[in-house]
Amino acid sequence: MVNTQASFNKKTILITGGAGFIGSNLAFYFQEHYPDSKIIIFDCFRSEATFSNGNLQSFGHYKNLIGFTGDIICGNINNPEDLALLSETKFDYIFHQAAISDTRVYDQEIVMKTNVNSFYWFLEKAKNDNATLIYASSAATYGSTPSPQKIGFENPENPYGYSKYAMDQIATKYSDQYPDMKIVGLKFFNVYGPGEYFKDKTSSMVIQLGHQILNGYAPRLFEGSDKILRDFIYIEDVVQANIRACESTNNGVYNVGTGKPRSFQDIVDILQKELRCDYGTEYFKNPYTGYQMHTQADISLSEQNFNFKPEISLEEGIKKYIPYIREMLNVPLN
Ligand SMILES: NC(=O)c1ccc[n+]([C@@H]2O[C@H](COP(=O)([O-])OP(=O)(O)OC[C@H]3O[C@@H](n4cnc5c(N)ncnc54)[C@H](O)[C@@H]3O)[C@@H](O)[C@H]2O)c1
Repeated sequence: MVNTQASFNKKTILITGGAGFIGSNLAFYFQEHYPDSKIIIFDCFRSEATFSNGNLQSFGHYKNLIGFTGDIICGNINNPEDLALLSETKFDYIFHQAAISDTRVYDQEIVMKTNVNSFYWFLEKAKNDNATLIYASSAATYGSTPSPQKIGFENPENPYGYSKYAMDQIATKYSDQYPDMKIVGLKFFNVYGPGEYFKDKTSSMVIQLGHQILNGYAPRLFEGSDKILRDFIYIEDVVQANIRACESTNNGVYNVGTGKPRSFQDIVDILQKELRCDYGTEYFKNPYTGYQMHTQADISLSEQNFNFKPEISLEEGIKKYIPYIREMLNVPLN
């Protein structure tokens, strides 16, 4: 349990995107540690609609919520009538995770409408309810700026990254205009851990490579993957960041990573060690231009303002993750 002053017992907590990866982990965290809290999930779940890239338009899945005993509202953040279902409830905390989380959706209109327009509604709701608002921003706001990525040096390179960048700017304006509000944005780096399976092709490489290995194949990596480094962060540390952010001394946007970048080759090596097999690695040419070669969160501000301290190394995270990776092998996605 995260050691914090905040008690969420008897508080009313809204988690948008609660049927997704990070949102469902937050929901179970509160359910387990604050049994007297009232938790409400708002998520559109998955329809069968896809974007032009072939991926589903939303990844929320009921299977992420089996065992969750709080309230669930199925609704779309783009639909005012659905949002009105939240109007009657006064929230103490809002964790806003719902978004098009797929970084490869290039339809700018739908990404901006979903991620940005709806944000105004949640900011207004937080203002009226006097609620603490913690929302998901992203490391994608940095594009391929050099490491370490630092707040204030963003340069998004896709519509998704831009939508989160726009959210950060809107949140900053609200903080300036309404200094009594508590608004914290968290720029998650590469999150991995239980709950992400239903993100399918957009899930982390940790589970995708794990499943290749469990299916008896050599894991497939881009050539030069020992030199492609990312800041991978385990879901428990991301939950910790959300909890601690509620006590941030200052509003603002903060990085949530480990600050310790690791290579894709490291992931494969750790997975094969944990799964006790060695299929080697199959390399293929990286088809992407403008591919990020190195990410590393500068987490000094997160440490300073809300005592964020990532605790789980890649080795420990993968070890904790293995049972879920095994459990989800060949589970149908629908
Ligand atoms: N997982 C990561 O590595 C990562 C990194 C950076 C930022 N983020 C951000 O964190 C948040 C959570 O990400 P995640 O990994 O859990 O993704 P996810 O796709 O599993 O969760 C997003 C949830 O939002 C829901 N949703 C999507 N569109 C919606 C709509 N129009 N109305 C209502 N609900 C809708 C989905 O059904 C899903 O349950 C997102 O905002 C994402 O952009 C995630």
